[in-house]
Amino acid sequence: MNDMAAARLPLFPLNTQIKDGRLHIGNFALDELAQEFGTPLYLYDRSTLDDALAQYRTALQTEYPAQSGLTYAGKAFLSIAMAQWVHQNGLFIDCTGAGEIMIAVAASVPRDQLLVHGVSKSQEDLQAAIAYAGILVVDHLGELERLIELVKTSNRQKFPTLWLRLRPGMAVETHSYTQTGQDDSKFGLSALEFLQALEEAQSAGLHVTGLHFHQGSHFHDPKPIASALELALDLIAETRQSLGWVPQTLCPGGGWGTPYHEDDLPHRPIREYVRFVAQHLLQGCHERNLPLPTLHLEPGRSLVARAGVAIYRVEAVKRTATRRWLLLDGGMADNPRPALYRARYTALPVSQPERPATDATWLAGPYCESGDVLIEALPMPDISPGELVAVPVSGAYQLSMSSNYNGARRPAVIWLQDETATLIRRRETLEDLYRRDLPLPN
Ligand code: LLP
Repeated sequence: MNDMAAARLPLFPLNTQIKDGRLHIGNFALDELAQEFGTPLYLYDRSTLDDALAQYRTALQTEYPAQSGLTYAGKAFLSIAMAQWVHQNGLFIDCTGAGEIMIAVAASVPRDQLLVHGVSKSQEDLQAAIAYAGILVVDHLGELERLIELVKTSNRQKFPTLWLRLRPGMAVETHSYTQTGQDDSKFGLSALEFLQALEEAQSAGLHVTGLHFHQGSHFHDPKPIASALELALDLIAETRQSLGWVPQTLCPGGGWGTPYHEDDLPHRPIREYVRFVAQHLLQGCHERNLPLPTLHLEPGRSLVARAGVAIYRVEAVKRTATRRWLLLDGGMADNPRPALYRARYTALPVSQPERPATDATWLAGPYCESGDVLIEALPMPDISPGELVAVPVSGAYQLSMSSNYNGARRPAVIWLQDETATLIRRRETLEDLYRRDLPLPN
C-alpha cells in the first residue's frame, strides 16, 4: 500500500480496507453504496460506534472504583436510529432543548435516560424537559426561577432531578469557538451562583443530585480538568459543611478530541483521558474526605466522529494559477466545520485509493461562497470528474450543523451493521425546500 493510503486508512471506521482496488467498510464497497443511495452520502458504521463505547466502558471500569455512567451528547448527531443505539446500549442521551428531546422521545428513549442541557432554555424547552426528562442540567439562576414557577403550577407528580452546571473559570485548549469553561463564557453558574441555586432549588423541594461542568470541545490535553475538579471539590466540601449536600453524581462533561487528519496521528487514547479524570477525582475526594460520587462522562465526538464517513462525487476538476480544484457535490452545507473552525480534514479516492499522490489539491463544494472549501492543499492522485471521494471522521457536528444554503438538500444517511446497509434518514427533496413556505396574499 502506498504511504498516502496507509496514513489515511486508520482515520476511517474499523474494518475499512482496500479490496479489488476499491474502498470497503467490512463487506460494503463504498462505490456500490453511492450507486444505491446517491451522493453526497453519509454513513455510520455500527461496529466503530460499539468499539468507541467499549473503550469508554472498559476505561471507566478499570480506572474508577465507584459507580460510573455515560451520556451521549446528542448535538454531535441525532436521529431516531442514533437515539435507538444510545438507548439500546443503556447510555443517557443529552438533548439540547425541545427539538432534540422530541427526537429522543420519537425513538422511545425512556425518561430515566433522557438528560436536558441548554444555555438558555425557553419555556417550551423547560416544559418538554418536565414532561420527558429524568435529569435537567440547570444553567443559570433565572432559568431555575422559571423552572420553580412551572413546577409550582404543574399538576404532575414527578419532576426531573437537577444537576447544576458550574462554570469553573478555565477552559480546555481548543478553538475559541468551542471553549466553554472560561470565566466570561456564557455557560453555567459561578461558584457563588451555584451555592445560591442549590439553596433555592432545595427550598422549592427540588432534588439536586449532580454537579456538572464542561470546559470545551475537541481538546487533546486533559490538564485543565484537574484544576476544574479542584474547584468543584472545594465547593462540594463547602456545601457539605453548610448545607449537608454532596452530589450523587459528578459530571466533568465531554469534549475529548478525535484525530481528523493523518497529521493528528497518533492520538492519545480514550483510556488516558478517562484515567486522568478518574485519578484526579479519586485523589481530590480522598484529600477532602468526600464520598466518591458516580463519575459521569458526556462524550459526543469521541463516540461518533470516526464511525461516520461522507462520500462525495467529483463534479468538476479545475486548474487555476497555482491550484488544482476538485469541485464536489457537497461542501459547507453538509459540513460547515472547515468554514467555522478551520477544521482540517483528509480524503481518499473511493476507486484505486492506492494511486500515488501527484499534486496538492483543494476540495471544494458547489456553493456560492469562497469559504466553501472542505480541504486545502491535500496531496491527492489525479482524479477525473465523476469519481467518488470519501472523507473520514465525518460523524460529529456535520449533519447536525448542516443547512439548505443555495437550496442544498441535506444528504441521505445510512447505517452499516453486519451485512445490511439501512437508510436511516432519507435525502431531502426539492419539495422539502419550500414545504414550509406560504405565498403572499393577493
Ligand atoms: N457536554 C456539553 C455540555 C456540551 O456542550 C458538549 C458539546 C458535549 C458534552 C460534547 O462535546 P464533545 O465530546 O462532542 O466534544 N460544533 C463544534 C462542537 C460544539 C460542541 C458543543 N458542546 C464542532 O464542530 O467542533
